Amino acid sequence: MSAAALAAYVAEAQRTGNASSLHSAGRTSRRAVEEARETVAGSLGARPSEVIFTSGGTEADNLAIKGIFWGRRAQDTRRTRVLVSAVEHHAVLDPAFWLAGHAGAEIVLLPVDAEGRLDLDALRAELAAHAAETALISVMWANNEVGTIQPVRDVVRAARPYGIPVHTDAVQAVGQAEVDFAESGVDAMTVSAHKIGGPVGVGALLARRDLALDAVLHGGGQERGVRSGTLDAASIAAFGVATRHAVDCLPQRAARLRALRDDLVARVRDAAPSAVLRGPEPAAGDRLPGNAHFTFPGAEGDSLLYLLDSAGVQASTGSACQAGVPQPSHVLLAMGVPEAEARGALRFTLGATSTESDVDRLVAALPQVVARAQAAGLVSGRAMGGAS
Ligand SMILES: Cc1ncc(COP(=O)(O)O)c(C=O)c1O
Repeated sequence: MSAAALAAYVAEAQRTGNASSLHSAGRTSRRAVEEARETVAGSLGARPSEVIFTSGGTEADNLAIKGIFWGRRAQDTRRTRVLVSAVEHHAVLDPAFWLAGHAGAEIVLLPVDAEGRLDLDALRAELAAHAAETALISVMWANNEVGTIQPVRDVVRAARPYGIPVHTDAVQAVGQAEVDFAESGVDAMTVSAHKIGGPVGVGALLARRDLALDAVLHGGGQERGVRSGTLDAASIAAFGVATRHAVDCLPQRAARLRALRDDLVARVRDAAPSAVLRGPEPAAGDRLPGNAHFTFPGAEGDSLLYLLDSAGVQASTGSACQAGVPQPSHVLLAMGVPEAEARGALRFTLGATSTESDVDRLVAALPQVVARAQAAGLVSGRAMGGAS
């Protein structure tokens, strides 16, 4: 957490008072929540009444996918199709597939190109054929593994003639790319505090007031009745501070991270010539500035991760939420990367505390790490009966 967000958290956590209580302690707490709501809304181009605080990105995605599905299907029972890009985070994919298993939804996975960009023609063809049966579309603002920024405004343009709501998961985009809820035209947008220097365990769904959105959590009726539960005023206050900071400092942060990332990409390519950059070329402009992602042929991502960790470099095989599950990334597979190559994936992300000396350390360790991981890959490939 940033120092300012932490200070806001501590100040609020020391106070007594439930933001839904009418006594003065409750009203003080409510004031902190409403100030944060205004800040989050103002920083992201939304109205305060469009902000629904949640326990983070996962909950906001669940609320969007399930809540919009139920809301839209209640208006018209034919609306069973849920269109999601094939590279969504599991926080979107899994509720969508849950709806397929439990609520009669049909999931349509929208394809992407070799760099992870949505195939807009496939979306348009799908809508032309099935608009009346479509409940919603969900396409993330930016991908958490390969950093691809999606053409969200084009998705909205395709959906608008049919009146189909569009949700976007902007968890990775806030603080790294310009994100404006109203200007983008989306109906709902997920954000999370812990990617931007706020606490873990708080986020929001921004949702237009006229969106058909059913509750997922039922109880005390907080947050427009769609997200019951006592408000976590301390986390929300810190989230407000973090959001303002992330958005106010975006131009400088993006420029600094882009320069550092471009240097990282060039030097990784020098240090490990077999490495293949995945996602858009940095110069293309539609990649998150703090993201670099490579596959290393013949090496297992997990081996690379542990070897680098012991050299003091912390990287990820993909989405941190999936690490530990030794399966090739669904994002890389959707981009057409063969399974054997997808197993050698490593994602490097740079943030507020990353410096040039972090890149130096990575580049110094990499040749040996890759050689060792490739040697281990060769041995385990043989043990498994040959490279597959
Ligand atoms: C794109 C994306 N969506 C959703 C999430 C989940 O957010 P949270 O960790 O706040 O539940 C993440 C977390 O990494 C993410 O990267």
